[in-house]
Amino acid sequence: MKTILETIDPVNPESNVISRAAGFIKNGDLVAFPTETVYGLGADALRPEASEKIYAAKGRPSDNPLIVHIAQIEDLYRIADPVPEEALLLAKRFWPGPLTMILHKKDCVPKQTTGGLDTVAIRFPSHPVARELIRQSGCLIAAPSANTSGRPSPTCAEHVYRDLNGRIAMILDGGEVGLGLESTIVDLSVDRPAILRPGFITAEMLMEVLGVVETGVSLPKAGQKPQDAAEACRQEQDIDAMDQAPKAPGMKYTHYAPKAPMTLVQGDPEAVTGTIRRITAERMKKGERIGILCSDETADSYTEGVVKSIGSRYADDEIAHNLYRVLREFDEEDLTAIYSETFDTTGIGWAIMNRMLKAAGHRILPGEKE
Ligand code: TXA
Ligand code: MG
Repeated sequence: MKTILETIDPVNPESNVISRAAGFIKNGDLVAFPTETVYGLGADALRPEASEKIYAAKGRPSDNPLIVHIAQIEDLYRIADPVPEEALLLAKRFWPGPLTMILHKKDCVPKQTTGGLDTVAIRFPSHPVARELIRQSGCLIAAPSANTSGRPSPTCAEHVYRDLNGRIAMILDGGEVGLGLESTIVDLSVDRPAILRPGFITAEMLMEVLGVVETGVSLPKAGQKPQDAAEACRQEQDIDAMDQAPKAPGMKYTHYAPKAPMTLVQGDPEAVTGTIRRITAERMKKGERIGILCSDETADSYTEGVVKSIGSRYADDEIAHNLYRVLREFDEEDLTAIYSETFDTTGIGWAIMNRMLKAAGHRILPGEKE
């Protein structure tokens, strides 16, 4: 299949370009498009054979459900029943935006879209291209992240092209996405609302509306030291390990892991940089190629290895924005191992460390003073 790559204005999308893409969606074909979080791979959510194409193109296990994207709050009623009061409160507060809600599905949503579940994940994205594509196609659009299964989510069209060229009808190139990490997922199909995936809509923000929300981890408090915070995050491993029907089926699959094994080093900043420097020097003497994932504040303290900063450690939005790009860049470098600093887990830091811990297969090393 020849994949059409078309640029599109991310603020005022050209309607002739949208209309061509909408034509493919109506026809049951696949179109990759930018959202405010990451690029999505879209298909008509209510047609089983369209959803099946998504699984085939991504190489995704068929029991890992898709998120259905809508472009008006009322569409909740088309696909979910009941629509609880909490869902409406959250929708009014955070939609359009990076929040996905799990609700009981109506019969019109095929099991192919929900990976066999009786619940459906729903999100109303804020990106103008995503909204216009949904609107002009007249469809609700099922869209996972537009990467091949096992790769980091794409934050620009180039990433999508690398993974899916030849497998999908069209890619809309709206430039780099704004946020860079996938949406927060909150499960409202259960008695006590629960966060299944942390993101930009933080636990604190959800609690303001819902009162309580289960997090599955004991969330670090503001001001808590990063090393304690990483420890709290690490408890997520236990949730995954329990594996009695994981709540977000996507969580049970091995997540993206860089080609070279990655290890996170935690502790006070000097101990962390010292430990990474020492290990890098030792391993490079043996002829290895080591990648170092660090922050602007510490980049200068590394003189060996392939050093990449993901931004200032005081700007969590910058770190979130750069994480997947930097991980993809490391895969181009033919490395034997990657060592990474850890980051504060308050606010969206939880989402950042959640993705980093998965990429590192939960390998953490304490930073030790020399
Ligand atoms: O920001 C995002 O959410 C992006 C953009 C494209 O919207 N989409 C995205 O989709 O990240 P995906 O497929 O990569 O991740 C969806 C996650 C998976 O972990 C899946 O298991 C979970 O949502 N999920 C979907 N439906 C679910 C359901 N009914 N119950 C529990 N988890 C569900
Ligand atoms: Mg994904």
